[in-house]
Amino acid sequence: MNGRRCDLVLSDVTLPQGRVADLSIRDGLVCHVGSPLPADRTLPCGDFRVLPAAVDMHVHMRGGAQGHKEDWESGSMSALAGGVTVVVDQPNTIPPITSKEIFRSRIAEAQRASWTGFAVNGGVDKKNDLLGLWQEGAMAFGEIFAAPSSYADALPLNLLPHILHRIGELGALATLHAEEVKPGVPSDLEGHDRLRDLSGESRTVEDIAKEVGHLCRLHFCHLSTASAVAAAGNASVEVAPHHLFLSIEKGDGDNAFLKVNPPLRHEQVRKELWEAWNRIDVIASDHAPHTKSEKEKDFSEAPSGIPGVETMLPLLMAAFRERRIPLMSIIKKTSWTPSDLLGIPRAGFRPGMRADFALYGSEPTLITAEDLHSRAGWTPYEGMPGLFPERVIRDGALVYDGGEFFSRPPRWYAGRGYQVRDLI
Ligand code: DOR
Ligand code: ZN
Repeated sequence: MNGRRCDLVLSDVTLPQGRVADLSIRDGLVCHVGSPLPADRTLPCGDFRVLPAAVDMHVHMRGGAQGHKEDWESGSMSALAGGVTVVVDQPNTIPPITSKEIFRSRIAEAQRASWTGFAVNGGVDKKNDLLGLWQEGAMAFGEIFAAPSSYADALPLNLLPHILHRIGELGALATLHAEEVKPGVPSDLEGHDRLRDLSGESRTVEDIAKEVGHLCRLHFCHLSTASAVAAAGNASVEVAPHHLFLSIEKGDGDNAFLKVNPPLRHEQVRKELWEAWNRIDVIASDHAPHTKSEKEKDFSEAPSGIPGVETMLPLLMAAFRERRIPLMSIIKKTSWTPSDLLGIPRAGFRPGMRADFALYGSEPTLITAEDLHSRAGWTPYEGMPGLFPERVIRDGALVYDGGEFFSRPPRWYAGRGYQVRDLI
């Protein structure tokens, strides 16, 4: 213990087993659990539910040419205010992150502006400098698009075995956006659901899992139905909040604000997805901000995507308050399992664990875009109950307190292929 004072004590924390203890924190890690050690600062937590903060393994932080939709600053503030302290950025930026140079400048961009810890995935295209990206610090590969989406072409499926084999050789994780797209132009939510239908999604998941699932560690992004979840075999399964909390029936026909890939499904399908809750490994937001004016375009032209990094935990915590899901399942699906899949140290309540926490009160509020921080400026969850964190701790320091942000350099989580240079 070497006698040095701690940075922070979280007092009166109710641990998952029900015991109440004080967490002493030093150098970004929990260093003692029990009675408090001498510390510079104490935060009383008796009135809060303390959760390990979330690792959102699927966000599109935009920036660069898309800075009008979002950038690292606004996107990561939105994350923090939603109880997320680590985000994993997807590579379908402009330009896509498919070379070492672009990867390096993306890391620099995040290092300059992010309020959260972050990781960046490597993009996969026909040229695929997989080794270069891996050694540069890519966290995982993908999302690999098995069908085209906003700002992403589909990877020709005949290339998939070779690419997954190489990802397997690196020991990396491949993350897949699995869909099948029929020809045609959708003019409303119903049409969008038909052209990217649920059986096509399940078939793609099943074919990939069966035929090439053995080639590397595989993770299916944002599956929208229980049958797609069941088709994933040994791969890990991610589901996004919009497929759990929204449906075609909750939308407004040809209004494109709820246009997203994979599409929202019918109410019955949404309910069945909740039935698969126990098989879902990860909840990640697929935070895909677009501006109001882009979403107000004709349905056929509007981009797909829904902002959601700030509302993910609040929606889940409200569902917990309504006794629909256990608290421990939220902790596992939003924090511990994504950490384990990516090789990021877990945040939690034992000595040595990462000291990233979100402190929740007990009363949900009604979600409204005015209170949110994304540059998108709108939310599909307007008026729905959300339990937002009141305080957030990152790397052992208070970084968010009742709407106020406190700056702290972000921590970059490099993937395990990262080759440290310039040591000598
Ligand atoms: O709806 C979507 N929007 N799905 C994706 O896979 C990409 C995303 C985006 O980047 O806008
Ligand atoms: Zn996707």
